[in-house]
Amino acid sequence: EQQAIDSLFLVNQFAQEFFQTQLFDTDKGRSIGLSYFKQRGFREETLKKFGLGFAQNDMDALLRAGKLRGYNAELLKKLGLVTQYERDFFRDRVMFSIHNLTGKVIAFAGRIMAKDPKQPKYINSPETEIYYKSKVLYGIFFAKKAIRQFDECLLVEGYTDVISLHQAGIENVVASSGTALTPDQIRLIKRFTNNIKIIYDGDAAGIKAALRGLDLALAEDMNVRLVLLPDGEDPDSYIQKVGSEAFLLYLKEKGKDIVQFETELLLKEAGDDPTRRAGVLGQIANTISKIKNPLRRDEYVKVTRQVLGVDEGRMIFEINKLLRRDL
Ligand code: CTP
Ligand code: MN
Ligand code: MN
Ligand code: MN
Ligand code: MN
Repeated sequence: EQQAIDSLFLVNQFAQEFFQTQLFDTDKGRSIGLSYFKQRGFREETLKKFGLGFAQNDMDALLRAGKLRGYNAELLKKLGLVTQYERDFFRDRVMFSIHNLTGKVIAFAGRIMAKDPKQPKYINSPETEIYYKSKVLYGIFFAKKAIRQFDECLLVEGYTDVISLHQAGIENVVASSGTALTPDQIRLIKRFTNNIKIIYDGDAAGIKAALRGLDLALAEDMNVRLVLLPDGEDPDSYIQKVGSEAFLLYLKEKGKDIVQFETELLLKEAGDDPTRRAGVLGQIANTISKIKNPLRRDEYVKVTRQVLGVDEGRMIFEINKLLRRDL
């Protein structure tokens, strides 16, 4: 069993090295893949650190190289690297390696290099015995030391966000890879810090995604702050535009406690409608009721009741009602 698992890690390691060699040591890799990464502002040392690579436009380049190494097609299929028709799954894409907490390669993502509405921008390895999407945070192996050191984890959406921030010297950053945070991912972060700063783009989808993980994080007694970037920017584009100093200053100035953020957002949405404004009280009471630590609940009552314009007793009454219901 362990032997079977080890061979999966071994073949993934081989595949990463194959994609990397394709990127740096072949004409096509250099002229297509490397120039793509360079035009995006990524330096060679960064590409090497993160195990980035290139999959050429070939039916079975990886399959043939694997066979030469003595890896059978079944093993490559099991990892999703080769399809059931014995063709390479990743073709004509730049490659991202996904590592586990100890730095082993557990999966890959491949990105198209030119806009193509007929193809998904990224394709990802399927789930396997060594890759459970909902448990993985992209970049955690490279970030864990800095997360502990700064006692804070920055959470972004995408692979290139993580890579760009690292390259700019900000290393306490992981990506949820475009989905809402799962309980396993929150617990993974909690091994290193209680403080999460979510940095999403300022559009409606970014805000919704940030709020979705909120109750879970609060239930784990995490402090969650939210930073919305200017419209149309993601962390990668923004830090490449303004540089790390201005980026960090932006985080500091715009970071807002996520419960407070939710309160203000709901109030804004409710407008002048008295029924809806009353509903907001119930919603915020519900959010606060997820917090296990009573002292932290008190702190949140103090902050939010002011924004809501209700007195403390009323707020506490609403929360206690919900707490009793949850017993
Ligand atoms: N994603 C995915 N499949 C897609 C689109 C997105 O898995 N078809 C995931 C990827 O993990 C991606 C993240 O969602 O990194 C965020 O998506 P998006 O913001 O669209 O991509 P970026 O990370 O900004 O990638 P790039 O800068 O290369 O466009
Ligand atoms: Mn061929
Ligand atoms: Mn978005
Ligand atoms: Mn993005
Ligand atoms: Mn991007």
